[in-house]
Amino acid sequence: MNTFNTVPLDQFSHEDRYKFLMASVLPRPVALVTTISEGGVLNAAPFSCYTVLSVTPPIFGVSVGLKADGSEKDTLRNLRARGECVLHIPNVAMARQVNLAGQDCEAHISEIALAGWHVVDAVKVGAPRIVEAPIQFECVLRDIVEYGDRRSALCVVEAVHTHAADGVVQGHRVDHALLDALGRIGGGAYCSARDAFSAPAAAEPFQR
Ligand SMILES: Cc1cc2nc3c(=O)[nH]c(=O)nc-3n(C[C@H](O)[C@H](O)[C@H](O)COP(=O)(O)O)c2cc1C
Repeated sequence: MNTFNTVPLDQFSHEDRYKFLMASVLPRPVALVTTISEGGVLNAAPFSCYTVLSVTPPIFGVSVGLKADGSEKDTLRNLRARGECVLHIPNVAMARQVNLAGQDCEAHISEIALAGWHVVDAVKVGAPRIVEAPIQFECVLRDIVEYGDRRSALCVVEAVHTHAADGVVQGHRVDHALLDALGRIGGGAYCSARDAFSAPAAAEPFQR
């Protein structure tokens, strides 16, 4: 690959830019986020435009776009209203339900019931935790940052209490095989970290 063409990102339509970015930034981790609406309806939705933004304090950034009809997603609305969520790391066994929870549905319908997940109370936030997810971060909202046409909102949340399923975490060490975290490729395509490999260490330090 030593010949390159310019990709006219700025000339693409919003939809094509989205497709190009999502197909380039791969694989993406998946966060499953629970929130509660102003009226008390429990909501869950997966987000793959997300990452760790800060370690101390532990902060995640989740990019929430608009619904197909241009309205705000329930997760964003609920975060604005209540300022808290639980961010879960889903595993591969949850893929089918995660995909189901990622379909836009009306605000009064709970994706949790559709997916058949079970919830328990969180310790420090009002949103509950999905027990099927092996790691759960109870989070409070720090910021909502919007850019340009405001078609996506970067929700910045800080973990204030963390839970891990028995055996998955020893001290600070995560057993990757037991975690079996779910990754997203795009559309209905998912991946896992099961084919992780080790890159051999360089024999000599890099020379500039
Ligand atoms: C695996 C997966 C990852 C997703 N990642 C994102 C994302 O990063 N940002 C986003 O806005 N929507 C994403 N979606 C779509 C939302 O999950 C979907 O719009 C969902 O219905 C929003 O729910 P809500 O209205 O309850 O917040 C993703 C869907 C799936 C299945």
